[in-house]
Amino acid sequence: MVTVYRGTVLHTKSFDEFEVFDHGFIAVDNNGKIIGLGKNYASWLKQYHIPAEDLSEVRLNDYQFIMPGLVDCHIHAPQYAQLGLGLDMPLLDWLNTYTFPLEAKFSNRNYAEHVYRGVVESTIRCGTTLASYFATNHLDSTLILAEEALRQGQRALIGKVCSNCNSPDYYVEKTSDSISSTELFVKAVRELKSPLILPTITPRFALSCTKDLLTRLGSMAKRLDVHIQSHISENLAEIDAVKGIFKTGYAAVYDNASLLTKKTVLAHGVHLEDAEIALIKERGTAIAHCPASNTMLSSGICDVQRLINAGVTVGLGTDCAGGNSVSIQNAMLRTLEVSKHLEFFNKQHISGSAIISQPNPLYKPLKYTEALYLATLGGAKALALDHVTGNFVEGKEFDALLIDVSIGEKPNRTYNATELLEKFIFSGDDRNVRVVFVAGKIIKGYQK
Ligand code: GUN
Ligand code: FE
Repeated sequence: MVTVYRGTVLHTKSFDEFEVFDHGFIAVDNNGKIIGLGKNYASWLKQYHIPAEDLSEVRLNDYQFIMPGLVDCHIHAPQYAQLGLGLDMPLLDWLNTYTFPLEAKFSNRNYAEHVYRGVVESTIRCGTTLASYFATNHLDSTLILAEEALRQGQRALIGKVCSNCNSPDYYVEKTSDSISSTELFVKAVRELKSPLILPTITPRFALSCTKDLLTRLGSMAKRLDVHIQSHISENLAEIDAVKGIFKTGYAAVYDNASLLTKKTVLAHGVHLEDAEIALIKERGTAIAHCPASNTMLSSGICDVQRLINAGVTVGLGTDCAGGNSVSIQNAMLRTLEVSKHLEFFNKQHISGSAIISQPNPLYKPLKYTEALYLATLGGAKALALDHVTGNFVEGKEFDALLIDVSIGEKPNRTYNATELLEKFIFSGDDRNVRVVFVAGKIIKGYQK
């Protein structure tokens, strides 16, 4: 059976190439792969000779469109249990006060099952078709997260967190346990034999790992050819501490352990130095931009265009629960907001008690179509999965959303194709995410 969605279809081909087919179509085969898209359905149909009984057509209405699924390049699944709470401290205090005590509770399998079911349901509800999850130090409950993502049909990279120092006594591993349970985890995930679920080696951040642990994780990632995820240069106190301990810059700490690879994604990168950005680009490592968390934990304002202009691959992360939302639609909006704030940077002066801001003529804020790229294809590239997902190309998997902008408001006119996207990004929410597809299979909603 071939399913064809007829109506507005949009996606990106690169950071600055947005493509839209109004009155278009996208065709998906039985295996969930895209087998055609474009404007001219009649001529495509002629070429393919699909018998009528093998063809199912879904017609979108004027308020609906199909777009690629959203990619969350950085999310802490256990922290879903504290979403929206405890956002009154900077990073290191926040970790010690709220986050480490919470994550320690995931030694309990029942608690893990409960929270992990909720986080996967919520991210799917918001349209996340691919997520790169941090779990906790615990092998057993991290496997529960992998099984839960698989059960709900989400595409996911899952990491057992590694941390063997500078952590509280109740939430720290021995180096040998960290290494052995990471290897066991990689094997166990591979035994699930699902193309949707991949393991990722996850040193929490430089501060919570010794040089020895980082080096051994780097060589394991190479030996087993696994993805890697961590944090970098999020907060100034964190960076000072890293420099104090390792006597090098932050990026060099990871590079010396062979952790900067083409399959590595690092969250934040708010305060990276130019030479570090050049090194990250050179290694083919990506950055997950997490605007909500950067603001909520007072980490700083990340100028993602500086990274993109330097050739670094960038995707978006919710960073739940340093970030207060699990929605990548919300992350697109926050990305655009931070970018507009940057326009006023260095152009402020104080007049009486008011801060007067004037636009910086040299800075061009991101466009919403560029935010769409970061949330989809950029994310897929950042996770080294753009050969599979991220946009609509024949042969790629149909990881997609059917968005309906008429839910939650009563439109008094129709919108053109780009306005539909604008409506979703700037004033939409999870209610507008009507159907979510991963590899052609519906994992939220239904199609008429
Ligand atoms: N750095 C180390 N651990 C964390 C975490 O859980 N959240 C964030 N935002 N940064 C971190
Ligand atoms: Fe994080």
